[in-house]
Amino acid sequence: MDKPLVAQKSPYMYKADKDEKVAWCSCGKSTKQPFCDGSHKGSGFKPLIYDMKSGQGCAFCGCKQTKNSPMCDGSHSKID
Ligand code: FES
Repeated sequence: MDKPLVAQKSPYMYKADKDEKVAWCSCGKSTKQPFCDGSHKGSGFKPLIYDMKSGQGCAFCGCKQTKNSPMCDGSHSKID
């Protein structure tokens, strides 16, 4: 697996209700998008650990093509 799967062609909006570390899925295989469920094992991909503050909102990339992981950078608009 050299390219990540497109989990969805739009970002996942998320708001932290407490200070927390999240593990953003980079391979696209997780069933708990946008977060890691361990499905990357053996794929060569690893989750990206991201620190969030209570009340912080994010647009996590769902297409996995962003150049600004783990955030959406608009790259999903270029997917066919
Ligand atoms: S969802 Fe991946 S860049 Fe927007």
